[in-house]
Amino acid sequence: MKKILISYWSGTGNTETMAKRLAQGVSDAGCEAVLKKTAETTPDLVKEAAAMAFGCPAMGAEVLEESEVEPLIAGLSAAELGGKALGLFGSYDWGDGQWMRDWVDRMKSLGADVDGEGIIAHLDPDDGALTQCYELGKRLAGKAVLAP
Ligand SMILES: Cc1cc2nc3c(=O)[nH]c(=O)nc-3n(C[C@H](O)[C@H](O)[C@H](O)COP(=O)(O)O)c2cc1C
Repeated sequence: MKKILISYWSGTGNTETMAKRLAQGVSDAGCEAVLKKTAETTPDLVKEAAAMAFGCPAMGAEVLEESEVEPLIAGLSAAELGGKALGLFGSYDWGDGQWMRDWVDRMKSLGADVDGEGIIAHLDPDDGALTQCYELGKRLAGKAVLAP
């Protein structure tokens, strides 16, 4: 069964709620959802994944969480990302989603096949955001099946 890595950081649980819903979409579409916190995300898990999703809320001033997520993302190379479908998601509060726009651009510049514009949820994700997460999980599973 193809593995899809869902790696997330969440301080107060909002992004975690999104990650769990995304994992449900992956499983319902017949792939294995490998749901991991950022700190548990090893290079091998990234390599083994047929598709991936990364989650992180807006932190600092419209940046990724700096102690765990930023080093993980900074350590990814085009070799690991190229040709793999990638979803990005996270929760925010007072901003306008700038952190997500920057993150999408950054991953695209590494050659990742980024799904849409990323999914953003205001604080505790509402039903609409959770449906988007679920559908993203299904899309990633669909693309993973075609991955080598
Ligand atoms: C230290 C800190 C920095 C934050 N910076 C931003 C920000 O730049 N823009 C924004 O929209 N929200 C910001 N937030 C709000 C969080 O993104 C928001 O509370 C989010 O729901 C947290 O998600 P989580 O429950 O997954 O941790 C910040 C929150 C904290 C604690």
